[in-house]
Amino acid sequence: MQKRSNFTNKLGFVLAASGSAVGLGNIWRFPYLAAQYGGGTFLLIYLILAVTFGFTLMTAEIALGRKTGLSAIGAFKSLDRRFGFVGVLAAAVPIIIFPYYSVIGGWVVKYFSVFVSGGVKSAAGDTYFTDFISGTFEPIGWFFVFMAITAIIVLCGVEKGIEKVSKIMMPILVILTVIIAVYGLTLDGAMEGLIYYIKPHMSDVSAKTILAAMGQLFYSMSLAMGIMITYGSYMKKDNNLESSVRQIELFDTGIAFLAGLMIIPAVFAFSGGDRSALNAGPGLMFMTLPKVFASMKLGGVIGTIFFVLVFFAALTSAISLMETIVSIFRDKFGWSRKGASIFVTVLSLALGIPSSLGFGPLSFISWMGMSVLDIMDFVSNSVLMPIVAFFTCIFIGFIISPKTLADEVKATDGIFKAEGMYNIVIKWIAPIFLVIILGSSVASALGIFTI
Ligand code: PHE
Repeated sequence: MQKRSNFTNKLGFVLAASGSAVGLGNIWRFPYLAAQYGGGTFLLIYLILAVTFGFTLMTAEIALGRKTGLSAIGAFKSLDRRFGFVGVLAAAVPIIIFPYYSVIGGWVVKYFSVFVSGGVKSAAGDTYFTDFISGTFEPIGWFFVFMAITAIIVLCGVEKGIEKVSKIMMPILVILTVIIAVYGLTLDGAMEGLIYYIKPHMSDVSAKTILAAMGQLFYSMSLAMGIMITYGSYMKKDNNLESSVRQIELFDTGIAFLAGLMIIPAVFAFSGGDRSALNAGPGLMFMTLPKVFASMKLGGVIGTIFFVLVFFAALTSAISLMETIVSIFRDKFGWSRKGASIFVTVLSLALGIPSSLGFGPLSFISWMGMSVLDIMDFVSNSVLMPIVAFFTCIFIGFIISPKTLADEVKATDGIFKAEGMYNIVIKWIAPIFLVIILGSSVASALGIFTI
């Protein structure tokens, strides 16, 4: 077996894993879901899930990777041949996500280019975003640009690059997000939005909200698709696993929270009390932030910097997605890195085009009100990921036993503080919960009943 290169220290590991975790999921996806699903209600459910499910699953995946030294398909297979299929299912997730992720990445590059060329005022126009995404060639062009940048980095072999880029960019992103959020809160009407965002209303809790929060958790933390297993396989035994997971989670959740704080109050400020603005979906960030920047002194510059930082956050996540897919094809077919990278690029370009066109020429394709991009997003986050997570829990809870991985967590210093919670979540709470959530999501998808 090839010797695996290791992350040099714990910080290196935490930053690299955070580079994968922190991305469009935090900045683009979390705010629009929170806006749509009741603000504070969504936030609270998300936080509860993050410290229980998120913590447990991330710990388990990283431990599984470190224990076996293998990535997803191999890791499951090596411990029990019958469970190789979980690795295969997990492999399907990034193949679905990567293309549409790059479509959104393309939107970010487009906004960067508009801001850098002084277009802050026009980008703040009411129909600017919809005019843009309903086009044919322009969104595809930007999608290709984002994909090409990602592909070139992966082709040139990049682990070091990932670490370096995220080390510099992420702290700046956090600071800038705080500044924009604080500014946004001073706008007229923003306070009402702040309250909406942080105050839960128990009457709003529904299966749909929980499902959305759960899908977001997997997506944002790069769980249930084998990525954290792969990262774990590169982690050294003397790096404390539990505290690494806590740090990654804190970082990931903190940035998502700040992104919501930056966007949701601003939606209230600019919509003049029109609540339907909260249901904008994938376009929310792109419609709201230009208005914030346009109202700011130096907004053009700040907006430009912001989109550069978001671009880097998206890029590090996209790189981790593409790396995962490339290694799946390499392991399976023995291809060279170059051959596999080129194949994955072409495949993902082809798969991404319908998502890009789904807001324009292909907008007639719609399933339960979802566009092509939303359908991809739904299939990966609300169907496949819960299935992978379910089997991962069964595998750990009943086949290899939770203790096997708990011992791996303890390998550094003999301590696993949250072992009690991990045991019960992985064996009972998560699988039962996942079956319920998955059942209701599939049922509602098939139109059997609406939740
Ligand atoms: N977690 C990333 C984000 O929040 C998205 C991602 C998903 C990256 C899956 C890698 C794998 O943007």
